[in-house]
Amino acid sequence: MEQAIYAELPEEGRSEIEDLFNEMRKEFKGRPEELIPMLQRAQRRLGFLPEQAMLEIARITRLSAARVFGTATFYAQFRFQPVGKYIVRVCRGTACHVKGSDRLLETIVGYLHAVPGQMTPDGLFTIETVACFGSCALAPVMVINDSVYGSLNRSRALKLLGEIRNSFPLPKLASLP
Ligand code: FES
Repeated sequence: MEQAIYAELPEEGRSEIEDLFNEMRKEFKGRPEELIPMLQRAQRRLGFLPEQAMLEIARITRLSAARVFGTATFYAQFRFQPVGKYIVRVCRGTACHVKGSDRLLETIVGYLHAVPGQMTPDGLFTIETVACFGSCALAPVMVINDSVYGSLNRSRALKLLGEIRNSFPLPKLASLP
């Protein structure tokens, strides 16, 4: 089945979105020029822009839904699908490519069982690729959230990801009857 472009927030996130908009109604006047700051604020809190958030912003600013969705999709900074707690960005620029970023990415994809743009089922990771971080001297480069890792090889990348994964307890298995 094809994935919808704009994801909806799952049921358990509904109260989060209500809290967010209660706060935003106090912070913003609802002027059309506040559209981008409002989208940024919603994404900071929710991790992405669910369809409900964009519709609510349209209501508050009295802009059409088409205008809000069109503006949000115009800017690369906005996401429309949920992301993992850790965003793993692998550089695919020329310098990193020459130093083996393709193999690095392949290893990470294999380890996390998720392709770029997809969140792992445990909600921990999302893999992304980037054209260049501007740190070419450190190639190949991977960034996890705000931490930059340079001169990376596959075993070090796996160690870093394994450390993160191991720091989260595995969900308990349901006890058998
Ligand atoms: S090419 Fe990877 S940081 Fe520039």
